[in-house]
Amino acid sequence: MSSPRLKVPWANRLKTPPRTEADKPLISAHPLWRSLQQRASKMPALRELFDRKSESGVQRFEQMSVRTDGLLLDYSKQHIDQAALTELLQLAQLCAVEQKRDAMFLGRPVNVTEQRPALHTALRAPAQAAIQVQGENVVPAVQSVLQRMADLCTQIHSEQWQGFRARAIRHVVNIGIGGSDLGPRMAVQALQPYAQSALQFHFVSNVDGWHLADVLRQVEADQTLFIIASKTFTTQETMMNAHSARAWMLAQGCPEAELHKHFVAASTNVTAAQVFGIAAENVFPFWDWVGGRYSLWSAIGLSLMLSIGPENFRQFLAGAHAMDRHFGSAPLERNLPVLFALMGIWNTNFLARHAQSIAPYDQRLAGFPAYLQQLEMESNGKRVSIEGRTLDYATCPVLFGEPGTNGQHAYFQLLHQGPQVIPVDFIAVAQDDSGVNGHHPTLMANCLAQSQAFAFGKTIEEVLAEMPPERAALAPHRTFTGNRPSNTLVLDKLDPAGLGALIALYEHKVFVQAAIWDINPFDQWGVELGKTLAAELGQQFSGAGDESYSHTHDASTVGLFKHLQALRK
Ligand code: F6P
Repeated sequence: MSSPRLKVPWANRLKTPPRTEADKPLISAHPLWRSLQQRASKMPALRELFDRKSESGVQRFEQMSVRTDGLLLDYSKQHIDQAALTELLQLAQLCAVEQKRDAMFLGRPVNVTEQRPALHTALRAPAQAAIQVQGENVVPAVQSVLQRMADLCTQIHSEQWQGFRARAIRHVVNIGIGGSDLGPRMAVQALQPYAQSALQFHFVSNVDGWHLADVLRQVEADQTLFIIASKTFTTQETMMNAHSARAWMLAQGCPEAELHKHFVAASTNVTAAQVFGIAAENVFPFWDWVGGRYSLWSAIGLSLMLSIGPENFRQFLAGAHAMDRHFGSAPLERNLPVLFALMGIWNTNFLARHAQSIAPYDQRLAGFPAYLQQLEMESNGKRVSIEGRTLDYATCPVLFGEPGTNGQHAYFQLLHQGPQVIPVDFIAVAQDDSGVNGHHPTLMANCLAQSQAFAFGKTIEEVLAEMPPERAALAPHRTFTGNRPSNTLVLDKLDPAGLGALIALYEHKVFVQAAIWDINPFDQWGVELGKTLAAELGQQFSGAGDESYSHTHDASTVGLFKHLQALRK
């Protein structure tokens, strides 16, 4: 990483009013961008690209795959050639990806619209590291909270911590939403084989009462610990669920004076957590320089630590830190997050692919696509540049996915033969520890077969050659166009370090893409308008609003409101 005196390259740009469209051109006006567009329009078929002999005689796989500790990225099935890749690397340089990366690692206020650093990397830095925010080294505070979390784990696992009626904790209920839910939920499931205790984990996010009610039916009050996970401690859904959980606990016979045995919090807003009634020693803090969707490494990961234990949690952080080190130091052309990001830029901006499917070939990663939806779309779903200028190019694609073999029997039909081309990230785990013999070879075969079918397809000539002439009318239906791009990520093992590295890879990919698109990946103003309108409509639904709503809302909203109110009664 470069000099600590480095400035945030774009931080001062916000101090002036939004520029006009006639000002400094967007990156899409650069000749390099136009050259990439031309290359994309003339890109030969993947069959041909794979047949080409490289000058050095190296096979395409060797040329277009990178390996770091425990993780391989094969991007050779992307619809791209070396010349385009070289220009994409130049684009990354032109967009100051390395300087922006260094600014993030150094704690500069890279979240310019909120004037904050984005220092999730500090949460997984080694204890001896020094990372300054406003002149203060934040690492000791990070380590101190980790230690307090570890102490809580020890108390709960050893059954020293008991609920009212002196019963040991058996259920942990994480109440949170967005980044305070998706990360821990996904990781607890992914690392279930590393569970250190008989605790059962539950996650409540939806404000729909069914979600909480469903969980409360499965737990015993005197054996349940609620974690109220909320960065702000003001999120409506989480607060409503937290208050209802508290009321339920009292109704189940927990004396008010013993509620502290059943409620802990993870939040930056320690005061609000205490006002809610959580004892100061039960609040695990983190800091405003941790974005919600980047908070799994902080106290928001408490449920994960309770599941896998402090030592495994440290391995999880170490795996992410190893990826940070690689991202911070590897040259661009061997840098896994950079190459991964560039493949996305190529697909989105030059091949006009506006969706992205995630296909984990491992059931433990079932929650990963949903987790990535927030990470990628809340970060990079932006239409204006850092300076507030309207972009004339696409940013984040629409993400969706399911465990691979399940997707194969559902929406993969569209991925194979739909008119739109949707790139896929295949994620495979090389070492099988399911304990069920014979399944893993089939799973891996499916993973490789799918990416092969997407890349090379089946021509109409090949189809006709296989069928009797009287059935030739079916040939178009059985033809696969090929040239459908994919990445394949292979984890050596789905262990805590491997999962940490995988998540950090995606985080840094998102960052690199934002750097090229010239957007801020760390704010999320887009969620605000809906929240404001919901607060107002909530008053109307609960009968506390005034009668003027029909003048202030549109006809559709008023019509639906009246319809719902009539039926609700
Ligand atoms: O509404 C979006 C969001 O702010 C996310 O960015 C965040 O992860 C989620 O809500 C939950 O916020 P909090 O952790 O403050 O409750």
